[in-house]
Amino acid sequence: MKKSLEKSRQLALIGEIAANLAHEIRNPLASIGGSIQMLKGNMAQDKTNARLMQIILRGKDHLESFLKDFLLMARPALGVREEIDIRETIKDSIESLRYVADWHERLDVVMALTDDPLTIRANKTEIRQILWNLMLNAVQAMPDGGVLKVDARPLRVGEREGAEISIGDTGCGIEEQQFSKIFDPFYTTRDAGTGLGLAVVNRILEAYGGKIYMQSEPGKGSVFTIWLPVHAAAATAAGS
Ligand SMILES: Nc1ncnc2c1ncn2[C@@H]1O[C@H](COP(=O)(O)OP(=O)(O)OP(=O)(O)O)[C@@H](O)[C@H]1O
Ligand SMILES: [Mg+2]
Repeated sequence: MKKSLEKSRQLALIGEIAANLAHEIRNPLASIGGSIQMLKGNMAQDKTNARLMQIILRGKDHLESFLKDFLLMARPALGVREEIDIRETIKDSIESLRYVADWHERLDVVMALTDDPLTIRANKTEIRQILWNLMLNAVQAMPDGGVLKVDARPLRVGEREGAEISIGDTGCGIEEQQFSKIFDPFYTTRDAGTGLGLAVVNRILEAYGGKIYMQSEPGKGSVFTIWLPVHAAAATAAGS
C-alpha cells in the first residue's frame, strides 16, 4: 500500500516536471517559428533553400502539435469556459487544415452543419484540439485523396442537451484488431506520429462528460463521432 502510494507520488511528480518542461519549450519555439517565417520572406528562392525551409517548418509544426497534445494530456479541460458556437470552431479548423504539410489538392471537404447556432459552454482551445486531432488523422489517412466529411447537429441524450459532431474520411480505414489500441497514449502506426492525438481527444471528452464512437472499414474509411453536452460539469484539477 505504502509502496504503491509512493509510486503514484513519483509518477505525479514526473508528470509535473514534464508539463513544466513542455511549458518552457513552448515560448522559445514560438519565437523560433516567427523568425523562420520572416527569414522565409527574405530568402533566395532556390530549390535547396525551399527544401531546407520545408524540413524546418515541418519539424516546427510537429514539435508544436506534440507540445499542445502533451500539455492537454497532463492538464486536460481546465481552461476558461465560455459560450462557443461549434459551427464556427469547425469552420476555423477546416480553414487552418488547408495549410498543414499533409494537405494536398486531391482532398475534398463536405460540411453539413445546422443553420441554427450550435452553442455549448466549453473552452475553445480544448474543443478545437479535439476537432483538429480528428480532422488531421482523417487527412493523414487519405494520402491518395478522398473526402473529409464533417457533420454537426444538436442531439439530446436522455435529459441532457448536447451536440453531435462526426468526422468521416474515405481513407485507409482501421483493422479490427487495432480498435482497442488506437486511444492508448503513444500508440501509432505512422512514422511521424507520436500517438497522442486520440488519447488527448479521449481525455478532454472525459473531462466534459462527452463520448466518442468509431466506425471503420479497412480500405473504405472511418467515421469518428463525438457527443458533447451543452453544459458540462465543472472541471477539477483531476480532470473529472
Ligand atoms: N481516421 C483514421 N484513419 C485511419 N487510421 C486512423 C485514423 N485515426 C486514427 N487512426 C489510427 O490510430 C492511430 C493513433 O492515432 P493518434 O491520432 O492517437 O496518433 P497518430 O496520429 O499516430 O500521432 P499524433 O496524432 O500524435 O501525431 C494512428 O496511428 C492510426 O493508426
Ligand atoms: Mg493523430
